[in-house]
Amino acid sequence: MKSDGSSAIEVANLTKKYGEVVGVNDISFQVGNGELFGFLGPNGAGKTTTINLLTGLASLDAGAIKIGGIDCTRNPKAAQHLVGTVPDESNLYPELTGFENLTFCAALYGMRKNERQQRARELLETFSLTDAADRKFAGYSKGMKRKLTFAAGIIHQPPILFLDEPTTGIDVASARQVRQIIANLHRQGTTVFLTTHYIEEAERLCERIAFIVKGKIVKIDGTTELLQSVKGKNILILTVTNSEPNVTKGMASVFPQYQFEPAAPNQIRVESPEPVNIGPLTRFLEEKGIQVTEARRHLPSLEDVFVQVTGIEAGLMMKEKEKAGGGGNQ
Ligand SMILES: Nc1ncnc2c1ncn2[C@@H]1O[C@H](COP(=O)(O)OP(=O)(O)O)[C@@H](O)[C@H]1O
Ligand SMILES: [Mg+2]
Repeated sequence: MKSDGSSAIEVANLTKKYGEVVGVNDISFQVGNGELFGFLGPNGAGKTTTINLLTGLASLDAGAIKIGGIDCTRNPKAAQHLVGTVPDESNLYPELTGFENLTFCAALYGMRKNERQQRARELLETFSLTDAADRKFAGYSKGMKRKLTFAAGIIHQPPILFLDEPTTGIDVASARQVRQIIANLHRQGTTVFLTTHYIEEAERLCERIAFIVKGKIVKIDGTTELLQSVKGKNILILTVTNSEPNVTKGMASVFPQYQFEPAAPNQIRVESPEPVNIGPLTRFLEEKGIQVTEARRHLPSLEDVFVQVTGIEAGLMMKEKEKAGGGGNQ
């Protein structure tokens, strides 16, 4: 469902520091009613900090927050009834079963017993957890844990949903199911604020995206508009036996109509507004004793926009996560 024009979330000049460390620095954005909005950035960018500020789990240093038209700047719980949150780390009880965890959460929202049980069963079914309903949460796999945490976050059918890296660190099948459920909730009219460090996930799911780096929003626009900036580009990836910078420099002086960049090891990225004529390139390289073992057309994606805007190499998003995460992301 498209946004109806009014705002579900309005954030102005939000700042949070942890001593000297910047959590977020003067960020402003709004999310329309019914919109699926993405916060895309590497590890440590300020994504969780933002969700914590918006859901009242952290106190802000400066700025203003409105959720569902309610001013939450001083009273972060004022819009609590409108909001559901799925944190990156589970907040459920390991000793309770899946069913018990859900009915317990439902009770916290004041739902009646019949309604609690019915909603719990319905959600277990939606997330394909019915068979695990009576098993303890502690024994669930990572993917099952994330799915039950998600179910608990939407037990009260909130119109506004905060999702913190909902597919990070879980198996491929669970991640796919989670993305489908997000798309369904969005279709039914839920406003979704989602953080991710997966560029492709943001491109596939989100209608509008903010790129966040080191606590700052460096770009914010509709996904279609963001992709527009790379749409007409022709990008060719050559796999070669030598891609050292002096090789790409040599090519650039002979073929000034193209842009050359060393890509991954032994790859050269050729970019041009016109279709790339590959024959002269391979001949030039062969004369230098370099073989071209593969030439592949690369379809421009949000990844290219992200690299262009942030200067962060797409592969680095994953590496940073591994380095900093240490497997502690569950
Ligand atoms: N409770 C905290 N105490 C100190 N520093 C924090 C705390 N929470 C986050 N930070 C720091 O704030 C920055 C943003 O972190 P975070 O919002 O968790 O990033 P992300 O969710 O995008 O990975 C990081 O440098 C992080 O180390
Ligand atoms: Mg985080």
